[in-house]
Amino acid sequence: MIIAPSILSADFGNLKDSIEKVKSAKWLHVDVMDGHFVPNISIGPVVVKGLRQYTNQVLDTHLMISDPAKYAVEFIKAGSDRITFHIETVTDPIKMITLLRDLNVKVGISIKPNTPVSAIEEYLNLIDQVLVMSVEPGFGGQSFMPEALTKINQLNGLKSIYNKDLLIVVDGGINDITGKQCLENGADVLVAGSYVFNSENPESKIQSLK
Ligand code: DX5
Ligand code: ZN
Repeated sequence: MIIAPSILSADFGNLKDSIEKVKSAKWLHVDVMDGHFVPNISIGPVVVKGLRQYTNQVLDTHLMISDPAKYAVEFIKAGSDRITFHIETVTDPIKMITLLRDLNVKVGISIKPNTPVSAIEEYLNLIDQVLVMSVEPGFGGQSFMPEALTKINQLNGLKSIYNKDLLIVVDGGINDITGKQCLENGADVLVAGSYVFNSENPESKIQSLK
């Protein structure tokens, strides 16, 4: 199980210290919001560049923005290792996938809670990860939507047909209980923000998720 602490819930006045506290995690999840696709504004490439100086962890970048094609390259230049865009934001998903592939980065597609798995089925053989949103994107600290479990299960079935290396990532409301349910349904990566960072001991939360 890969655990990806979401730095959205880290201490932005002291980001370097915050990420020191989650050193054992293989990935760091970076939530990018534009105030347009989602009703919140968060992190830009400059923050990714800053993080890159202090860690070798995989920077898993979740673009919750209306125009991912316009900004992806800036994030990759800044040090993002994996880029996930939302299927709801693109008219030509293959073009977006190709753009990212050409930039030599791992590619993910995310679906919001109301978007069915069928919307991305035809792209599963072309990408590295699928990110299932288990809350409405925009904010940390929301409750897990159990409907996500059905999608994880469905994707797990599709993996064997389309792409056995596909990683199923779940994002939103993850804690020790919901994380276990995701694992039981076939998730490979758990993104966790508030559960990890709103703790005196983030490391213990990572271990408990593992
Ligand atoms: C929400 C973000 C999540 C968020 C998760 O739009 O995509 O990554 O940080 O936060 P928690 O774990 O607190 O639900
Ligand atoms: Zn996210």
